[in-house]
Amino acid sequence: MTAIVIVGTQWGDEGKGKITDYYAEDADYVVRFQGGNNAGHTIMVGDETFKFHLLPSGILRTEKKVVIGNGVVVDPIVLLDELTEIKKRGFAIKNLYISDRAHVIMPYHKIIDGIEEKLKKGFKAGTTKRGIGPCYSDKIARFGVRMIDLLDKETLEKKLDILIPIKQKTLDIYGENIKLSKIDILEEYLACGEKLKKYVADTSLLINNALDEKKMVLFEGAQGTHLDIDHGIYPFGTSSNTIAGGACIGTGIGPQRIDKVIGVVKAYTSRVGTGPFPTELDDENGEYMREKGGEYGTTTGRPRRCGWLDMVMVRFAVRVNALDALVITKIDVLSGLKNIKICREYEHKEKIIRDFPADMNVLADCKPVYDELDGWGYYSKDEWKRMVKKGYEALPDNMKLYLDHIRKETGVEMELISVGPRRWETIDMRSHH
Ligand code: IMP
Repeated sequence: MTAIVIVGTQWGDEGKGKITDYYAEDADYVVRFQGGNNAGHTIMVGDETFKFHLLPSGILRTEKKVVIGNGVVVDPIVLLDELTEIKKRGFAIKNLYISDRAHVIMPYHKIIDGIEEKLKKGFKAGTTKRGIGPCYSDKIARFGVRMIDLLDKETLEKKLDILIPIKQKTLDIYGENIKLSKIDILEEYLACGEKLKKYVADTSLLINNALDEKKMVLFEGAQGTHLDIDHGIYPFGTSSNTIAGGACIGTGIGPQRIDKVIGVVKAYTSRVGTGPFPTELDDENGEYMREKGGEYGTTTGRPRRCGWLDMVMVRFAVRVNALDALVITKIDVLSGLKNIKICREYEHKEKIIRDFPADMNVLADCKPVYDELDGWGYYSKDEWKRMVKKGYEALPDNMKLYLDHIRKETGVEMELISVGPRRWETIDMRSHH
């Protein structure tokens, strides 16, 4: 296997950061292909916690090559901050490559994100206000600034001469009393370009060459399948293609090059942001998941909405990503619950729905149909350690029944089962089947 794509099967926050970091051990390259600093991945190395928004999870494994692909939207100020933080904590930045074609989040994108969210009323997605949507809009409308533009004063100035008056008009129409300064923006972004110059490269060429040499390349998805701009809960999702196909577009490789697609499934569901959520729990079980699972946004700190695992969502993810394997995360969080439910299908106006609907009005009226399973006990860190060491068979019987249920519903095998945030808290099934 040389090219592996990892994607989230739900609404993001499945624990992909830890999983990517785990797989990154065998990889030569770790590549991000979409999204920007709306993402947040938490990685634990020993007892140290690292939170990244823009840098790929592989950055802490300093011997790896780490790539920000053309499909990512880059806030260069955030990127420089993250690099400074990592250096401060003793990690070297040796092998970072940023696509020359990646689009840049400009100051006006962040402002417009905030304003439009307010104006959108019922359509608002509850964005992270990082300028993601407006930056992707400009990319598609061909109003964008790319990384390569930051490296040349004349080019950037020429672009800003055209773009700033247009953006100023937008702000004026919105009735905002904000004046954009071309000179300030030009100076700040050229300075960023100067600092980032050494990392900017033709990353499609780099990755294709690596694949030709049979190097292992890990493509790290951000957000999740159901936030995808085409296949997610439009208009409440994000502005990029989060599904596995996005790895091709967002890095410049052909689809035949991908050997394997892995879907990360959190053992329950969470959502930060607005929109219908059929299995949402507004009770003590939801609260239990939020508190035990630390379900607060890495990027915004917002409490996440929590609910039972929804197999309608996961089966959809199996289909649109053509998943070869599943990774189950945070199953330890469910420990101690007496009964655990899994949504099998939805009921809508006395009809059964097995496939995730496109219509958000329908989704909002869907009632989950549940299978109910017995829970398992609460285990101490030492007991988990023992179970992880012994492997899958040592897991509590009811947990194995829960995992069997997921297998049966998806028809896809599991490769890893994660029972905690640390690297060692992982049961690797690759030797099991
Ligand atoms: P945006 O990506 O900031 O435009 O936000 C659009 C929607 O996607 C909002 O509902 C966000 O809460 C959600 N979102 C964006 N990034 C993430 C993420 O990394 N995890 C979970 N939700 C996200």
